[in-house]
Amino acid sequence: MRILGIESSCDETAAAVVEDGETVLSSVVASQMATHGKYGGVVPELASREHLRAIVPVVREALEGASTRLDDLAAIAATVGPGLVGSLLVGLTYAKSLSFVRGVPLIAVNHIEGHIHAVVLEARRAATPIEFPALALVVSGGHTHLFEVRAGFAYRLLGKTRDDAAGEAFDKVAKLLGFSYPGGPVIDQLAPSGDPGAVRFTFAKMKGNALDFSFSGLKTAVLRWVEARGMEAEIARRRALLRECPQPTAGQWLAVTPAATLGLLASFQRAVIAELLTRAAAAAESIAARTMIVSGGVACNSGLRAAAHSAGLPYPVYFPSPGLSTDNAAMIAAAAFPKLARGEFAPLEIAAEASLALA
Ligand code: KG4
Ligand code: ZN
Repeated sequence: MRILGIESSCDETAAAVVEDGETVLSSVVASQMATHGKYGGVVPELASREHLRAIVPVVREALEGASTRLDDLAAIAATVGPGLVGSLLVGLTYAKSLSFVRGVPLIAVNHIEGHIHAVVLEARRAATPIEFPALALVVSGGHTHLFEVRAGFAYRLLGKTRDDAAGEAFDKVAKLLGFSYPGGPVIDQLAPSGDPGAVRFTFAKMKGNALDFSFSGLKTAVLRWVEARGMEAEIARRRALLRECPQPTAGQWLAVTPAATLGLLASFQRAVIAELLTRAAAAAESIAARTMIVSGGVACNSGLRAAAHSAGLPYPVYFPSPGLSTDNAAMIAAAAFPKLARGEFAPLEIAAEASLALA
């Protein structure tokens, strides 16, 4: 049972063929990093245009890489939301056209459910299936959500960010300091060179739902720290490096980043990790979780992985391999697999939904 997955919710055009919800036969990701990098964030109009350019060759490459013809497919799955509506439309409309022309059923997938299924796919493949109930922490540039996942993939929202997503906080702090976009991978690379105890950050206690997150205070604290130090010259050096070389190496960044700033980065990363893991562990305890799933772009963070594995949690914690953590289409095809079994097909008139909720 082969499913073609198509993902275009943000700044990656991706297609993949996955067999039986567990074997990735091909996974192609065309990144738009070079386009958006110089703006320090995703520019929606440019993203839609790039998706239009990439969608046909990316799908073709995924089918060829999997030695699969459209007629061999059991279904075509596409991300229907949440995301940038102009971006979503490109992948969804292309999936609809293929489905209509070839008579292959269409399956609509929520992007957040896709992130969760990146872990489900690998667990199935490793013959260590997820035990339910599971606690899923989805942390990316657009989401910071805690879900209870029950058998049969029923979801209940336990908490979410009230302002910035964790990945967005990484991206904004990096941009403020003159580093490249996306900021998460750069901060992850540089944080081990700094003293994580250098700057003390405090988190406000959440009123209302104690499992909600907030990262805007942390971002403001970083801004105040930078303003208090008058770091214009240092930031200008990094911006100059970025103009010369769009993707500097860790060594090049280190040459223009003094110990105090490295300490700030290490302390910031440690604070984000503490915030994520404390609330995820509390959420897991509240539902008597038997597994914890961490997924989404921020799940690539090596400090987060290390902290989760050394926290001594009383259940296994699963992360996707890095290629399946950031946006990809294999996770969309994997999320469609149980829907295929249930005959949950989408009508051709289904619309993209920018703020589609999972639960
Ligand atoms: O899942 P994703 O590719 O796209 C969204 O659905 O948003 O996540 C992208 C986000 C960006 O904010 C990026 O900075 C962050 O994931 N990210 C990381 C790391 N790699 C990517 N954050 C922290 N550490 C990383 N190693
Ligand atoms: Zn994502």
